[in-house]
Amino acid sequence: MGHTLFGALGLFSLNILLYCGHAQDVPRPVLTVSPSWTSPGDSVTLTCSVGPPSAGWRFFWYKAVPQLSDYYPYYTYELLAGGTTGTEQDSYILHGQTHTAGYQCRAGRGDPVFYTQYSGVKFVWSGGVNPAASLTVSPHRLQHFSTESLSLICEGNSTEWRVMKVDEDGYVSSCYNWGEMTGSTCNTDTRASSGVYWCESVTQSSNAANITIHNVPRPVLTVSPSWTSPGDSVTLTCSVGPPSAGWRFFWYKAVPDLSRYYTPELLAGGTTGTEQDSYILHGQTHTAGYACRAGRGDPGFNTSYSRVKFVWSGGVNPAASLTVTPHRLQHFSTESLSLICEGNSAEWIVKKADEDGYVSSSCSYWGEMTGSTCNTTTASSGVYWCESETQFSNAANITIHSGDVILVSSVHPVTEGHSVTLGCKFKTENLLYNVDFYKNNTLIPNPVRGELLISAVTKSDEGFYKCRGRKSPQGLETLTSAESWLSVKCEYEFCNMCYSLSE
Ligand SMILES: *[C@@H]1O[C@H](CO)[C@@H](O)[C@H](O)[C@H]1NC(C)=O
Ligand SMILES: *[C@@H]1O[C@H](CO)[C@@H](O)[C@H](O)[C@H]1NC(C)=O
Ligand SMILES: *[C@@H]1O[C@H](CO)[C@@H](O)[C@H](O)[C@H]1NC(C)=O
Ligand SMILES: *[C@@H]1O[C@H](CO)[C@@H](O)[C@H](O)[C@H]1NC(C)=O
Ligand SMILES: *[C@@H]1O[C@H](CO)[C@@H](O)[C@H](O)[C@H]1NC(C)=O
Ligand SMILES: *[C@@H]1O[C@H](CO)[C@@H](O)[C@H](O)[C@H]1NC(C)=O
Repeated sequence: MGHTLFGALGLFSLNILLYCGHAQDVPRPVLTVSPSWTSPGDSVTLTCSVGPPSAGWRFFWYKAVPQLSDYYPYYTYELLAGGTTGTEQDSYILHGQTHTAGYQCRAGRGDPVFYTQYSGVKFVWSGGVNPAASLTVSPHRLQHFSTESLSLICEGNSTEWRVMKVDEDGYVSSCYNWGEMTGSTCNTDTRASSGVYWCESVTQSSNAANITIHNVPRPVLTVSPSWTSPGDSVTLTCSVGPPSAGWRFFWYKAVPDLSRYYTPELLAGGTTGTEQDSYILHGQTHTAGYACRAGRGDPGFNTSYSRVKFVWSGGVNPAASLTVTPHRLQHFSTESLSLICEGNSAEWIVKKADEDGYVSSSCSYWGEMTGSTCNTTTASSGVYWCESETQFSNAANITIHSGDVILVSSVHPVTEGHSVTLGCKFKTENLLYNVDFYKNNTLIPNPVRGELLISAVTKSDEGFYKCRGRKSPQGLETLTSAESWLSVKCEYEFCNMCYSLSE
């Protein structure tokens, strides 16, 4: 695409249209201008090269006259003074060049004259202020990050302007290609890139600005641990990638709003950022989402926000709760689940993070939402939770299995001192025989009637559990479930005691 607009520029002149039929045979000269930036009073040399054999050509020199149009940066060309007969030399000196301007050349020889194509347009830029035509860049600096929108403001004695750019490859384009023109201001969008920018009216060109647009790094946030119990501390770490020196880090809480997006809200004391790339959250109790970004310099540049990362809590939060039916963590792939949201809100959405941390927007991706219940049609393993306009519910790490046996275990963490029963379920209604339970791959002796009852749970019961059973009383074929984590929590005021007891 890079050079099609150059073609458009050339095509606009009538002579090129006449030559169109055999344009390939017609040479196209290359114009160079030196220097490309001028100060008032400088001389500028234009050089037109046709390529060998170059003998016998005469050279014709043109000034580009902007033709304002909404879409394409058209120019018509006006012969420079004394140019009707052309010059024998392939260079032309402009004396007392003051403002930004565009030039073009072509060559001709013979009688009747055979003309080459027109060269591409080349510009001589001036950074000096021209009251009749001026460009102001806001924010007022030459270096920008691609996340910033720039306002390129044209002022002077014209009511109609266009904003032009020549990028690093020499490609000429106008605001239409990377922004939106409102009156005489171009507001850039994410397509804006580094290049020389200036304003043009039919009669005037403004000062030009060589603007550099830096790609913005996107930091990666990690959260540890990703599951918390009341009273836990959670560490957020923000990494920008090299060169990482000199950044300050800003930490945000993700506020839900019943959409796939979150509103970033600075964490306490975060306006000045931290020098350290980590941040400790004390007394994290409920599920919450976090993001970070980094900034440096004065005036500052900020990176974009990291992806939102979550700290999940399995504990019930009466203001926002998720109930899973059937009430267990493992499910057969043939089952439909009901994910029920309850609490202080009339409206809920259900979200899911898959194993790669990718968060799907809502129930509509894998089920159907009716009121505050999501019935799944194609559930897959992942962490599920509910969000209202202000709250996150407890989360559940649900796993979906294609095998014949699953472990029946608690969706919520079990409170220390309470009892819990683990079961083992066969896909059909048939019973399983000789059921055993394993914790961290170690056989647990004496389960009663195919169940594992722990009458007073302690922190040391925490671990990965699975079950194994036989299809028939005498059969040798065994079926084993996948593992699930049994989480044990403390009543809040006894937490520290529990931890010391378990050590
Ligand atoms: C625009 O400004 C220039 C320089 O100030 C002046 O020479 C010219 O006459 C002005 N043109 C119009 C149309 O006002
Ligand atoms: C614009 O600035 C960049 C970075 O300083 C430089 O590499 C580039 O040559 C400049 N472009 C022009 C046309 O002066
Ligand atoms: C960078 O982010 C911080 C925190 O949100 C904000 O206070 C600051 O104004 C931002 N700086 C820029 C240049 O956007
Ligand atoms: C969702 O599933 C539950 C349990 O199977 C069922 O009782 C309920 O009617 C279902 N809701 C909808 C809207 O299909
Ligand atoms: C079981 O494994 C988990 C994770 O590796 C560990 O935290 C826990 O202490 C283990 N439990 C026992 C009793 O070994
Ligand atoms: C969810 O549970 C599975 C199986 O125990 C485990 O592999 C996975 O890491 C858990 N996911 C999270 C986010 O804790």
